[in-house]
Amino acid sequence: MTYNLDGKTAIVTGGASGIGRKTAERFAAEGANVVVADVVTEGGEETVELIESAGGSATFVETDVTDPDAVEAMVQTAVDTYGGLDIAHNNAGIEGENDPLAEQTEANWKQVMDINLTGVWLCLKYELQVMTANREGDGDDGAIVNTSSIAGLSAAGSSAYAASKHGVIGLTRVAATEYAAADVRVNAVCPGVIETPMVEQSAAENPEEIEQFVGMQPLNRMGSPEEIANAVVWLCSDEASFVTGNAYPVDGGFTAL
Ligand SMILES: NC(=O)c1ccc[n+]([C@@H]2O[C@H](COP(=O)([O-])OP(=O)(O)OC[C@H]3O[C@@H](n4cnc5c(N)ncnc54)[C@H](O)[C@@H]3O)[C@@H](O)[C@H]2O)c1
Repeated sequence: MTYNLDGKTAIVTGGASGIGRKTAERFAAEGANVVVADVVTEGGEETVELIESAGGSATFVETDVTDPDAVEAMVQTAVDTYGGLDIAHNNAGIEGENDPLAEQTEANWKQVMDINLTGVWLCLKYELQVMTANREGDGDDGAIVNTSSIAGLSAAGSSAYAASKHGVIGLTRVAATEYAAADVRVNAVCPGVIETPMVEQSAAENPEEIEQFVGMQPLNRMGSPEEIANAVVWLCSDEASFVTGNAYPVDGGFTAL
């Protein structure tokens, strides 16, 4: 399946690795110009090289999503480099400590909330300012997808991680309803256990826990980052033109149980 994103401009946060890298590559393969944003420069530049070597167009901008000035500059990079902003995948996130609530540190709570929740709020704020200003009833909608998790829909994660990912769904619903009239659609994806560096690190620390979660996915395997990118590109395409304000599990059936 291919989607036509020719001439559109997209931002992907957390684009240096895992799910974000695959979404960035897919947006570019569908014809979009892509701003790859991440705190990790080397990986972000590698993503740009992968896109360019496949014939696509991309720019890396070093961005910490917890820093309002950096997020504003990230959005401005899309405007200055490609003339506007049509699509965003707000995907940067960390897992944080996996201990039970009473054993977690306040520093972990704050860091997970800052990156996973405040980071998405800041991205939405600056993206929506530009996306609404640029639409002006041109009949072409804008689309944003936030990365939540099965931990945004259930207790499948630590307290800080699950609270941040539930929060992402709340932000998604409010942003979708506030900006529907401005022709910007906002949805969330809720990945199950996906084979990325984040999960590889967890598996190295606690292999039994990952096996247990994979066993709770009826398809009985990990998902791939490409399978999340498939859902994100659909949500950002005209094929999803009547879809907004929803949180989509892409989880091998985890949330069906
Ligand atoms: N892999 C999974 O099983 C899974 C499941 C559900 C949800 N998710 C979510 O998917 C998203 C992507 O995760 P992934 O599995 O690809 O992990 P990953 O670790 O491969 O990628 C996450 C990226 O986010 C970047 N990042 C971290 N903090 C940042 C910050 N402050 N500013 C900008 N970038 C920052 C990292 O540098 C990294 O490149 C995360 O939000 C994660 O919570 C992953």
